[in-house]
Amino acid sequence: MTGRMPDSVVTPRILRLEIVPPQVTPPDLGADLPVRSLHLNESPFPPAPAVVEAMRKATAELNRYPDHDGKDLVAALAQRTGASAENIVIGSGSNELLYASADITLDANDEAIAPVPGFPTYAKTIAMRGAVHVGVAVREDGVVDIERTLAAVTPRTRLVFVASPHNPTGGLLGQAEIEHLVKHLPDDLLLHFDEAYYEFGRHAGGPESLPLLAQRRGPWIATRSFSKAYGLAGVRVGYGITSSRELADFYRKIRVNFSINAIALAAARTALDQETHLAALLEHTATERRQLSLGLQQLGFRALPSAANFVTVITPRPAAAIAAELKAKNIFVLAFPWPGTPGALRITIGSREDTAACLAAIGGIVQPT
Ligand SMILES: Cc1ncc(COP(=O)(O)O)c(C=O)c1O
Repeated sequence: MTGRMPDSVVTPRILRLEIVPPQVTPPDLGADLPVRSLHLNESPFPPAPAVVEAMRKATAELNRYPDHDGKDLVAALAQRTGASAENIVIGSGSNELLYASADITLDANDEAIAPVPGFPTYAKTIAMRGAVHVGVAVREDGVVDIERTLAAVTPRTRLVFVASPHNPTGGLLGQAEIEHLVKHLPDDLLLHFDEAYYEFGRHAGGPESLPLLAQRRGPWIATRSFSKAYGLAGVRVGYGITSSRELADFYRKIRVNFSINAIALAAARTALDQETHLAALLEHTATERRQLSLGLQQLGFRALPSAANFVTVITPRPAAAIAAELKAKNIFVLAFPWPGTPGALRITIGSREDTAACLAAIGGIVQPT
């Protein structure tokens, strides 16, 4: 093409879209300090050997398309969750299912509610459909505010995103709060309950959400991820448990053909059986989370209670400046605004060495000797 692309080619809602790229910063290979990637909530453990072997085996048949329905994976998920296989949907990361929820429910000018601060995909999917993002501030303790969420519902609301444990705070909803939500949310909208950190939340004592969500008469989906506790962020698999086959069929109807590749399907299916690997990761995460949280509190930060694989702290000095100083030391964390304060830092739980290095580096920044 020569010359400028005419504006009319692209819809106004896509022209207006703010780009929020995933926060991946390539490692600075020039530095002799190790790169500490603590900004994406990944697992510090590589996949279990059996998972690596399953992926290797899957490569032998890559001339074929993958099983679009992921039948083996869905059957194993049905067995583990107690949900019927026909109510379970899968996606290329739970991200694909967040997009699907917006696709299924939103037309231009409809309203969708999502927590603020929240996972950036909520705002992006809502904006891509030309719908209105109704942001609801999370509570002071970082938990999604159920009362404010309910109060934000209007006759135009078609979709409500709620996350527990929430990202970027780690806040966990209790049983009574989920029951209150499902009891009072109107039936004529979709509740998308985002549980990307589900396994960590359960390990921290959180409630099993499915029986609580099942008390809702209206439609709902709970989405979970293989990217976090299962350590498979690189292959992209997520799944959702829905309130009915009828709803699940809409997710199946719009899904991109073969969106989960054969290697990813094999990895996820095998990862479900690696219970010792998962248990070790959950134990490790809880131990390091306590250490990191305590260490940061001793340095004058206010730590939010976290039931996820990260710790979020309100900082005594501008958070973005601290993150920039850490980046200069090859330590990557996420800084974001927290109203009325110098900001917040979200730090993923890494290895034990990561915890020590991170605390030492932050100590050097806020309490220089
Ligand atoms: C709250 C939340 N939801 C969904 C996702 C998407 O995860 P994935 O697409 O890797 O399953 C993430 C990833 O960081 C997240 O933090």
